[in-house]
Amino acid sequence: MTDSNFAHIREVAYQRTGIVLGDHKREMVYSRLARRCRALGASNFDEYIRILEMSDGDELSHFVNSITTNLTSFFREQHHFEFLLETVLPDVFEANTASRRVRIWSAGCSTGEEPYSIAITLHKFLQKNAVRYRSWDVKILATDLDSNVLAHGKRGVYHISGSDGLSTEDRREYFDELDQGNNHELIAKDKIRNMITFNRLNLLHKWPMKGQFDVIFCRNVVIYFDKSTQKVLFDRYANVLKDPGYLMIGHSENLHRVTDRFKALGGTRYKKIS
Ligand SMILES: C[S@@+](CC[C@H](N)C(=O)[O-])C[C@H]1O[C@@H](n2cnc3c(N)ncnc32)[C@H](O)[C@@H]1O
Repeated sequence: MTDSNFAHIREVAYQRTGIVLGDHKREMVYSRLARRCRALGASNFDEYIRILEMSDGDELSHFVNSITTNLTSFFREQHHFEFLLETVLPDVFEANTASRRVRIWSAGCSTGEEPYSIAITLHKFLQKNAVRYRSWDVKILATDLDSNVLAHGKRGVYHISGSDGLSTEDRREYFDELDQGNNHELIAKDKIRNMITFNRLNLLHKWPMKGQFDVIFCRNVVIYFDKSTQKVLFDRYANVLKDPGYLMIGHSENLHRVTDRFKALGGTRYKKIS
């Protein structure tokens, strides 16, 4: 991969996804796209780039799937879920007594561990407040740009080795287990699966959703974006959040000098300023 190939690939990645590929990502990009070259029979990166430019979106979606980083886990950054259960849900349910409708968005949901962790938390809250909030319209939207990870989330099947963040009680309560020796899988039960809708969405593009959200999780996504992309995105989040509206971001991200539309509550938890 020549310098000019890498520069070109970087530009396509930035324009199409907002992801900034620094020099330190060159090896990763090389090895992932070398796989695409082999799959397509392209003998070098010049040829690969030509195919990418000429494709009507097919190779672009493989390209995007190749450059995204999808690391995630159940109850990652546990304090967000405690805050959700103890503070955010009581507040937003109280605020929505007229509409009886609550919406949570997991933006950049990867393979689904984040929206399933939200669903488990929500299910516990609803169980505790069954009389008050019976038959409310409560939904989680889970979106990602990468079609492979979305398909995984939709399937809702996880290898036991990736379930560290789940307590034994939550595992029993919210997953069926299929143990076939070296293939030990957890399968999300309908009571959490049915709360979530998985959709492909590029955060840089137009958002088709009509209604507003009460809570947005966008964690460990903007870390790959530059400040100007982050600013546009967080201002758009503020626009689609209700009042009260909450935003959780990743542990290494912050809104300082990015947007002043949110009040920091500490621990990368934010509330929209009304
Ligand atoms: C590291 S994962 C974070 C998963 C989860 N939010 C968490 O914190 O565990 C980042 C996800 O953001 C997605 N992503 C990156 N750029 C995106 C974009 N422009 N639109 C939508 N999703 C994007 C990637 O595909 C990836 O699945």
